[in-house]
Amino acid sequence: MLALGVLLGDGIGPEIVDASTRVAEKALAGVAVEVRWRELPFGLEAIGDFGSPLPEPTLSELDELPGWILGPHDNAGYPEQFRGTLSPGGAIRKRYNLFANIRPARTLSASVRALCPDLDVVIVRENTEGFYADRNMYDGAGEFMPTPDIALAVAVFTRTASERIAHQAFQLAAARRKSVTIAHKTNVLTKTTGLFLDVCLTVSESYPDVEVRGEHIDALAARLVSHPRDFDVIVAENMFGDILSDLAGQLSGSLGMAPSINASHTHAMAQAAHGSAPDIAGRDIANPVAMILSAAMLLRWLAGQEDGTPALGVAADNIEDAVRRVLDAGVGTADIGGSASTSAFTEHVLAALD
Ligand code: IPM
Ligand code: MG
Repeated sequence: MLALGVLLGDGIGPEIVDASTRVAEKALAGVAVEVRWRELPFGLEAIGDFGSPLPEPTLSELDELPGWILGPHDNAGYPEQFRGTLSPGGAIRKRYNLFANIRPARTLSASVRALCPDLDVVIVRENTEGFYADRNMYDGAGEFMPTPDIALAVAVFTRTASERIAHQAFQLAAARRKSVTIAHKTNVLTKTTGLFLDVCLTVSESYPDVEVRGEHIDALAARLVSHPRDFDVIVAENMFGDILSDLAGQLSGSLGMAPSINASHTHAMAQAAHGSAPDIAGRDIANPVAMILSAAMLLRWLAGQEDGTPALGVAADNIEDAVRRVLDAGVGTADIGGSASTSAFTEHVLAALD
């Protein structure tokens, strides 16, 4: 019996997370693995019930689990006192030291109207520090206003965090097209992104088969659009990686197609790269692909752990294959030019798993 956490989140979260657990459960049944979902309070609803978007009972349950699925959340929509602080998703990443945010962007099917029809990149995003000041403090806030007209933010770059994310990127690239691009902005941010670049280049020496180049983030963004096939793995600090992964997801067809996991060496969390899309919440039109594929990534990660069950990797392959076949058949949600609802698309994927 496999136990996994489920945090539905806000906006379209409940709809797409439900799609992902149904698909994962069926794929797991296909490889004779039974799963027990532990649904835990999280997000706006948890504020109402527990006075916190990430309440203590949720944390103590997560402590016992190797992995979970996190729906998108909308902290901008929370009551005032929960806004200026660490986002609940950021708090989970920090508490479990989920330092690697792995975000593939790949055009899955010719039937998807993609801006870059042959994109296949993975953004490896450092997930614990960098320019995102809300995650940078042990105590106190990394963003502050000495006067109403001045706002300051603290960036943190450490050798340790840069090293471990670089190893993730090079290991991944070694198993792919053997190329890593390091995103930086050393012409301006010489110390912070300079340390990140230097550390990544030093780590690259341990991977002689993988080609490496550093590139300024602005030029990199332009070239990702003009020459998408030049890129295999891109390693980036937190904010650059956040922005680039939305860009890459959209280039691959839709932000609604871009999955991710947040991982440490011992825990992983499936989380779509996109946000909670409150404007379309509850209308059964959101694209569930990112969330479904994030769940598949979680299963593959679990399979790859030292004591992992290989069957989980087979279930992950089967999910990806089923999603691709449904897309190839021309079924898709409105964001990719189709007319299927969230639930109808999910039913097609479930049928494709038969
Ligand atoms: C992401 C998001 C989050 C982040 C938000 C929801 C707090 O943009 O993971 O892509 O800033 O890290
Ligand atoms: Mg983002």
